[in-house]
Amino acid sequence: MILIKNGRLIDPASGTDEQYDILIDEGKITAIGHFPKQDESGYIDEVIDASGLTVAPGFVDTHVHFRDPGQTWKEDIVTGSVAAAAGGYTTVVCMANTTPPLDSVEALKELQDREKDLPINVLNAVCVTKGMKGKELTDMDALAEAGAACFSDDGLPIKDEKVVLAALKKAKELGKVISFHEEDPDLLEGRGVNKGVVADRLGIRGASAEAEQSLVARDLVLAEYTGARVCMQHVSSRLSVELIRLMKRAGVDVVAEATPHHFSLTEEAVLTKGALAKVNPPIRTAEDRYSIIYGLQDGTLDMIATDHAPHTDEEKAKGLIEAPSGMIGLETAFALGMTNLVSAGYMTLPQLIEKMTAAPAKAYGLNAGRIEEGGPADIVILDPNEEWTVTKEGFHSKSSNSPFVGETLKGRVKYTICSGKIVYEENR
Ligand code: DOR
Ligand code: ZN
Repeated sequence: MILIKNGRLIDPASGTDEQYDILIDEGKITAIGHFPKQDESGYIDEVIDASGLTVAPGFVDTHVHFRDPGQTWKEDIVTGSVAAAAGGYTTVVCMANTTPPLDSVEALKELQDREKDLPINVLNAVCVTKGMKGKELTDMDALAEAGAACFSDDGLPIKDEKVVLAALKKAKELGKVISFHEEDPDLLEGRGVNKGVVADRLGIRGASAEAEQSLVARDLVLAEYTGARVCMQHVSSRLSVELIRLMKRAGVDVVAEATPHHFSLTEEAVLTKGALAKVNPPIRTAEDRYSIIYGLQDGTLDMIATDHAPHTDEEKAKGLIEAPSGMIGLETAFALGMTNLVSAGYMTLPQLIEKMTAAPAKAYGLNAGRIEEGGPADIVILDPNEEWTVTKEGFHSKSSNSPFVGETLKGRVKYTICSGKIVYEENR
């Protein structure tokens, strides 16, 4: 048994924000209340003193890349889940752009088999189309039956609207989410850097906001037509936020992600961070950044998802044009939220926690993201005020491609508990 004493319990799902103790046994939360430090029966193995700390549901990330199988020199499911635990996450959804792409029941089962022994709950998105080629649908019935968390060709858009339409109809029937990476290649000149003043100054081709917005608009219309739930991934532009706001009001079943890099940085970041700030879709203007923050504030953007995308130093050293897009995010997400959203005055700590727990769990129908008696003991203990400096060596991920290295941020993960086990403890 573990007893967490004297923490400020913030559980947005139930609206709790009060000092409570939590008792954990056999992987579950057995009681929430006020308990003596030692119980005389001697059943308590460990007491965690959470005085001055915040206790919250383990974070949920609907969008990570663990590169397993196929590119395990960048990350694998073991190092990815250790990095997730260090970031306070207890449930993550891995994207399907592995090598080969995850498009068959056989491959899903092989992965699920290995995921049983990980420190946190790792779920899998599976491809919408075979080989992520955008042509032929995967066996969505069988993949849903086998436990796919959602369907996504993340990394690539699906060009053919007939394919999207058929996929949405099937997803509606199955009650599953389709998660979209929206960037029309026909409208992209370059990749990973915003088309605009910074790209012009550098003399490189940029990725336009229109490339994203045109597909966001298309797929919101198709979602309305089919009634399926869609997820708009890593929303990066003002008009995308506006389109989602409009279509939510019109009753479309859309959920949407904001990433820490899109709410923290602007296109200027590539000037100082180079390829470390190269990401698809790109980080855009200050106006886009504020729209994303306002979208989070009013619920247009439901949740924070990291798009944790590990790449090696060698690859990132190739420069802005040649380097692959993406950055790691799991170990800095909470601190970026604290620093750039909460401390900056855009939202409260409970609101930030909601965007990282209850909201993603609800969007994907996961049994996660809340603290309740009888529920899974998936918990994070945080010091929202502790400042720390991001270092390359401090990452648990196999990769360290983060534009935030060297930054001093506020908000530290102290413990992560998953299924009743301490899976991360700072300084241990
Ligand atoms: O920048 C990105 N990197 N965006 C994506 O959608 C995919 C990701 C990756 O897999 O590296
Ligand atoms: Zn993506």
